[in-house]
Amino acid sequence: MVSRVIPVDPFDLVLFGATGDLARRKILPSLFHRFQIAQFCPKSRIIGSSRSKLDRAGFQDLVAQAIRDYGQDGETGEDDIKAFVELLDYVPVDARGDMGWQELKSHLRPDVVRAFYLSVGPSLFPDIASRLSSCGVATPDSRIVLEKPFGHDLASAQALNAALRDHFAESQIYRIDHYLGKETVQNLMALRFANSLFEPLWNSTHIDHVQITVAESIGVAGRGEYYDRSGAMRDMVQNHLMQLLCLTAMEPPSRFTPNAVRDEKVKVIEALEPVTQDNIARGQYRGKTGNSYLDHAGNPGSATESFIAMKVEVANWRWAGTPFYLRTGKCLRARESEIAVYFRDPPHNIFEGAAGVHGNILVIRLQPDEGITLRTTIKDPGPGGMRLTGANLDMTFADSLPESGRAQDAYERLIMDVIRGNQTLFMRGDEVEAAWAWADPIIAGWTQIGAPAPQPYDQGSSGPDDSLLLMHRDNRRWRGIGT
Ligand code: BG6
Repeated sequence: MVSRVIPVDPFDLVLFGATGDLARRKILPSLFHRFQIAQFCPKSRIIGSSRSKLDRAGFQDLVAQAIRDYGQDGETGEDDIKAFVELLDYVPVDARGDMGWQELKSHLRPDVVRAFYLSVGPSLFPDIASRLSSCGVATPDSRIVLEKPFGHDLASAQALNAALRDHFAESQIYRIDHYLGKETVQNLMALRFANSLFEPLWNSTHIDHVQITVAESIGVAGRGEYYDRSGAMRDMVQNHLMQLLCLTAMEPPSRFTPNAVRDEKVKVIEALEPVTQDNIARGQYRGKTGNSYLDHAGNPGSATESFIAMKVEVANWRWAGTPFYLRTGKCLRARESEIAVYFRDPPHNIFEGAAGVHGNILVIRLQPDEGITLRTTIKDPGPGGMRLTGANLDMTFADSLPESGRAQDAYERLIMDVIRGNQTLFMRGDEVEAAWAWADPIIAGWTQIGAPAPQPYDQGSSGPDDSLLLMHRDNRRWRGIGT
């Protein structure tokens, strides 16, 4: 049998912010799992770096604990952990000072892939990029990996991109949007471009509208200060939902190469119509004393949205007349992300009106319970004439492909792609800027005097009433969340 794991070349990966939350929860356990299945060899090295004055043994202990705490259940054997921590080293570095840079340089080998993962606040990106370059730590082949947020608006994103490009070529820059690393998100491309069934129907002649929902059941407690400066629009829509919209709406690229795919995504963003405020519903979750959004944000007067729904139009030949409704929020009834494509009703109904109409809906479930459902219309079985009913053709990845084992975390794939040098699943600078250019005027509308405040909604609900009205006005309904 052919191995499903394609090994990557040996590497030196420097992880800045190595003791931080994201590194411990996601990045290091992801690397561990890829090591466990032998995707990279023991010749590779992971060099932790941060201001903390740890030594190698201290870092090894910290990483071993992170894997026990956050690794996938049943896959964190102590022998494997012991072997993995042998790959680790640690160099304390001051991102804004001279400490550690020469030592870091002396740890890196000339003959392996070199990558720098900046799991740090974005305000440190320019400093680290500049020192990597001026201290001679980065080479022309090195890769630099960055976590969102990429800017707070267009101007800051442009400044950040310019600061990075002073030291790195675009081909060296890997901007992570972890949604692109999700198996089902990539499957959207396979579904569209590797099947001849859907593409002829994938346009406004056949599709009535599309609903993209990313619902979360958790709130913002513990990260309220960051979140309150972002809100759902900056935290989720400008990046994650935008990516889902792009992959759903884009034209088929001529090849599956990084720039061909990203070119098509940029065209979608550039085709987006400005969204007027009457096509937006914003909400803020309320709760018992001490448990509302305002409490979690630590800002009693906050006008930041923890929920947003909007109607978006893609102004091109394929999509004119087919709206995309986007919806995301915290503290909703369930954690559920999906793309639902609503096909138009048949042009003529040969059955009696009483038979009922059940339009086709293609639902791509991103999480949980990843899979695809196609609602079809069938005859309601039994005597009593021709009555119609809806029935689902249902596929879950877990049932259909049991041999593929556990779903890998998005970070596992993305980090291996960095080592492979494949930028397809990373955002290009112009893509990020185009998304901000679209988002900025929307956000600016909320800061004007007299702009409506976010509408309160109950925790565990589907969001504020205004979100329902957004749909009802168009004679449409949201799919239920958690139903
Ligand atoms: C992050 C956002 O980028 O994505 C969080 O900052 C959000 O607010 C998270 O909770 C959602 O990711 P996932 O993979 O859990 O859907």
